[in-house]
Amino acid sequence: MRPTLWVASAIIAVIVGGMAWLMLAPSGQGYTSPALVDAAGGDVGGAFTLIDHTGRTVTDAEVIDGPALVYFGYTFCPDVCPVDVQIMAETVDMLAADGVSVKPVFITVDPARDTVEALADYAGAMHPDMIALTGSDEQIKTAAAAYKVYYAKVDSEGSGDDYLMNHTAFMYLMSPDQGLLGLFRRGFGPEQFAKDVKALLGGV
Ligand code: NI
Repeated sequence: MRPTLWVASAIIAVIVGGMAWLMLAPSGQGYTSPALVDAAGGDVGGAFTLIDHTGRTVTDAEVIDGPALVYFGYTFCPDVCPVDVQIMAETVDMLAADGVSVKPVFITVDPARDTVEALADYAGAMHPDMIALTGSDEQIKTAAAAYKVYYAKVDSEGSGDDYLMNHTAFMYLMSPDQGLLGLFRRGFGPEQFAKDVKALLGGV
């Protein structure tokens, strides 16, 4: 190979290696998993004030008062959210069976339709311990920004309440003292998530 080509390949190798490292970023305990996008630290999570599915105003400190799995979505979501939230609920149950208590938290990105009543139905259907949260547009915007969640209404020809939301679909393992312990990508089952959560909580 000519030297310039060699240098170019070396640079590409470093970039690809760096990306692979980012994909499998180790946690503080050095734990890695294919389901883990990112781990301990990172500037993710923070203060919010929202309204829970019983109509009570709650802060982040009241919601995340122990290990919690947090998911941002919306109850009208036709495919992604119901699958992910079901898997989150199954993960919580698998952990509970092993004596590990983790609270499932759902935060809507569609406060216009996700009223307290809609979230009460949703939480009731998904998991008995689920806390489902809504709020004003501004409150949801603040919470989503803290968790670096992207969401936007999809422009459609349809009118009124019939619309879709684009949104990021990650699951966050949060701790009251340490903030983000793990950021999970979708596409894995409750067995994988339960294993990872246990490993990441191991150092707590
Ligand atoms: Ni969704």
